[in-house]
Parts: sequence; structure tokens; C-alpha cells
Amino acid sequence: MRVGVIGTGYVGLVTATCLAEAGHHLTCVDNDPRKIQTLREGKIPIYEPGLEEMVARNVAAGRMRFSGSTAEAAAENEMLFIAVGTPGRDDGTADLSFIEAVSREIATNLPADGTRKIIVEKSTVPVSTGDRVKRSIQRGCRPGVQFEVVSNPEFLREGSAIHDFFRPDRIVVGVESEFAAAAMRRLYEPILEGRYFDPPGSRRPAWLVTDVASAELIKHASNSFLALKISYINSIAAICELTGGNIEHVAEGMGLDNRIGPQFLRAGLGYGGSCFPKDVAAFREIARAAGADFGILKEVMEVNAGQRKKFLRKIEEALWVVKGKTVAVLGLAFKPHTDDIREAPALDILAWLDKQGAHIRAYDPAAQENVRKLFPGVAYCASPYQAAEQADALLVVTEWDEFRYLDLKRLRETMKHGIIIDGRNIFDPPAVTEAGFEYFSMGRPPVRPAGMEQSSGSSVS
Ligand SMILES: NC(=O)c1ccc[n+]([C@@H]2O[C@H](COP(=O)([O-])OP(=O)(O)OC[C@H]3O[C@@H](n4cnc5c(N)ncnc54)[C@H](O)[C@@H]3O)[C@@H](O)[C@H]2O)c1
Repeated sequence: MRVGVIGTGYVGLVTATCLAEAGHHLTCVDNDPRKIQTLREGKIPIYEPGLEEMVARNVAAGRMRFSGSTAEAAAENEMLFIAVGTPGRDDGTADLSFIEAVSREIATNLPADGTRKIIVEKSTVPVSTGDRVKRSIQRGCRPGVQFEVVSNPEFLREGSAIHDFFRPDRIVVGVESEFAAAAMRRLYEPILEGRYFDPPGSRRPAWLVTDVASAELIKHASNSFLALKISYINSIAAICELTGGNIEHVAEGMGLDNRIGPQFLRAGLGYGGSCFPKDVAAFREIARAAGADFGILKEVMEVNAGQRKKFLRKIEEALWVVKGKTVAVLGLAFKPHTDDIREAPALDILAWLDKQGAHIRAYDPAAQENVRKLFPGVAYCASPYQAAEQADALLVVTEWDEFRYLDLKRLRETMKHGIIIDGRNIFDPPAVTEAGFEYFSMGRPPVRPAGMEQSSGSSVS
């Protein structure tokens, strides 16, 4: 099929590349000329494992090209995906100005050639945005244009985006007609037949066809539920700290129940990123505007914000005076396997350390260059060990795998003082104390090396 994707960011570029890999012909559009230029030069503006090779392969095969013109893409393709950003505004609602702008551009350029075009909302949007897009296109298009708006929410995770696109649990499409459902089914057929599972066909994603509003709601409801799980386990972690329990044991015991499951039960610094914070806030505002008080989501957001504050209090408890201390920060991206720093806990932590007057040394395998633009005064290092040199304390902020396997004895020898404050619970307390560290983590009592006084339970709440 001939498909245009408007917005070549994390979602747009991955969607386009994977659809090209599946055999379709893709035009990727962005209104950022530097992005298009970079892509034409064969470089990928984001860090996403496996993406660069796949883009190169599909460009070489003639199935994928980059353009700065929505007009061109609207005129030439039978299906158009809208994958532009829907950032949160200060009042929590979603900013839909990019969606509106693209809808208008599409409208004026859709040909009245007797074919029925499919306009797909891929961006995460409030319920009833599909209706708005439809009206906007109806107002702006020339007579005789035929089109239909479909909602096709995206569930991929940055860092495993290609895997998630090809092996999703489900594909959801919200449609108004059999025609649109059939077109979407044709588009996704290679994925639906399980071609990308190992062995091929061993599993098949669920295919769910709904009305447009329900599909829009499924995305916000799913993200909010996952955020709720995270805030729930972080609330239990707070109770563990007050009562002497260990959140890792509690989470394991809960997760073994199939009805609950182990995923999203990791206590820590809470969620960040470009999706959960804005989607939870937007969903609450959507509910409020509809006349429903979604109070649980207020709690979810408050607990999440509280996790960052709790971590800062742990730093103060461990270091006493922060001013003048050297602090090593491991991990800057909002989660592992991405260079995305939108709403990353690290940004709040760096800002606070900076304000306190700490000397900051930081390391992240992918996100350093993005953070450097915001915090030019931080010393960015080539490895975790270099970041730890002469540090008074080491903070774990993002749970990159490479941090789990650090040589703790070597780390301790590098540092001035042996203090680790772990916002992601990546270390085993006995292993860190044996290497000579005092160890503060989330939802577990602080532990100290032999010879230092052990505290019973945490004094941090
Ligand atoms: N990032 C994720 O993990 C993820 C996952 C699922 C859903 N989503 C949703 O997908 C949407 C896109 O997210 P993203 O992370 O890819 O955003 P992004 O900011 O990485 O990409 C958006 C792109 O759209 C381009 N753009 C904006 N206005 C345009 C216009 N008028 N014409 C052409 N291009 C335009 C921007 O230049 C940018 O490159 C959001 O609604 C988001 O909530 C994101």
C-alpha cells in the first residue's frame, strides 16, 4: 500500500520504517527541515536500537523516502498517518495545535480522484479528536473528496520500539466503516499473521476493531492504568520504609499472582518520559471535561511527583550537607535504551543538585548530549567509573543494564566516600555493603558495611 506518515519522530519514524519493512511504500514527512536532511543523509535523529539499519535497508529498496511536504504526501498516498506530537499544556490538557495544523494541510491537498482516503490518528489524542479531525478536513477539502478518519493508537515503547511494533499484544483500530476496517487489516496483515514471531506464526497479535471514540479511550486508559500500577507499588514502597518491609519481596509476592502480574511493579523514582506524565494528566482533564471526577489519577500524579522529592531527601540524609560535595549521577534518560530525556527524573535531580551547589559528574550511554544542552556545567564522563572518580556519593537514576554489572569494588576504590543512593533498586544490598558501600534504595531499609552502625528501618519517609 502507499502510505504517508506525517511527523517523523519516535512514533512516526518507527511506524513508517516497520511498515516499509513489511512491504509497503512509505513517504515520511516532517516540517523540521534539519530532521529531513539528517534522514536523507542516512542518519537517524533518535537513538532506537536496530532502527538505523532498517531505515537504510528500506530506503535502498526504494520503499521509503523523506519529504518536507505534507501536500505531496496527501496528494500521492492512499493512507495518511498523523504522528505529530500532542504535548501537555500547563493545565494538563493536550495541545492539539499540531494535529489541527496537519489536518488542515491534508484537507487542502486531498485529491478528488474518486478514491476513498484513510486518515489515521496515530498520535495519542483525547477522545473525540477523530471527530474534530474529520470536521476540519471536511471544511477545508475540495468538493468530491472522499475520506475517513481512523484511530489506531500506538503502544510501542521507546528502546524496544521495533520489537513492539512487529510483535504487539494487540492492534486496535477505531473505524466508522467496513471499508476502513478492511484497509487497516490489509495494512497490518504481515504483522497479524505473526510473521515476525519466532518461529513465524507461533503467535498472532489480537485484532480489535472498535468505534473511533473507544479506540481513542483505549490508549489513554491503558497508559493511565500502567502509571497507576507504578504509583501503587511506590505507595507500598513508602509503607515498607515505614514498617521495615522490603519492597522487592512484596512486589515479587504480588507479581506471582497471575491476576496482577510482575510488570510495572518496580518501585523507584517513578515514571517520566514523553507519554505517561502528559497522558495521565490529559486523561484526568478529559474525564473532568466530560463531568466525571477521576480522582485516582490525581493520586497517581501526586505519588509520582513525591518519588523524586523522596529521592532528594535520601541524598540529604546520606550526604548531610550537599554543597561542595561531588556527586556522580548514573543514568539521565527517562528510562534505559533511549536517549529521550523528556520529563526524565534526572532533569529534576540535576537541577536540585546544581541549586544545592554540588559538583556533578554524569554518565549515560545514550542521553548525555541531550542533557548537555540543558546543563552545560555538568562534567559528562566516558564511563560510570570515570563519573565516580573522587565522588562523595553515587546516584543511580536510570536502570541501564550496564550499571547492574559494575565492578563494585573498583567503583568503591574510585570514589572518595562509599555512598550509593539507588533510585531504581538495581543492586543487591549484601553485594554493595560487602564492597564497602553505605546503600540507600527505594522501599528497602538502608544498609551499611560491617563495622558501621546499621539502622533499623529507614528514617526517610
Ligand atoms: N514516544 C513514544 O514512545 C510514544 C508511544 C506511543 C504514542 N506516542 C504518541 O505519538 C505522538 C508522537 O510522539 P513522538 O514521541 O513520536 O513525538 P516527536 O516529538 O518525537 O515527533 C513528532 C514529530 O512531528 C513533527 N511535526 C510537528 N508538526 C508537524 C507538521 N505540521 N507537519 C509535519 N511534521 C510535524 C515534529 O517535527 C516531530 O519530528 C504523540 O501523540 C505521543 O503521545 C508516543
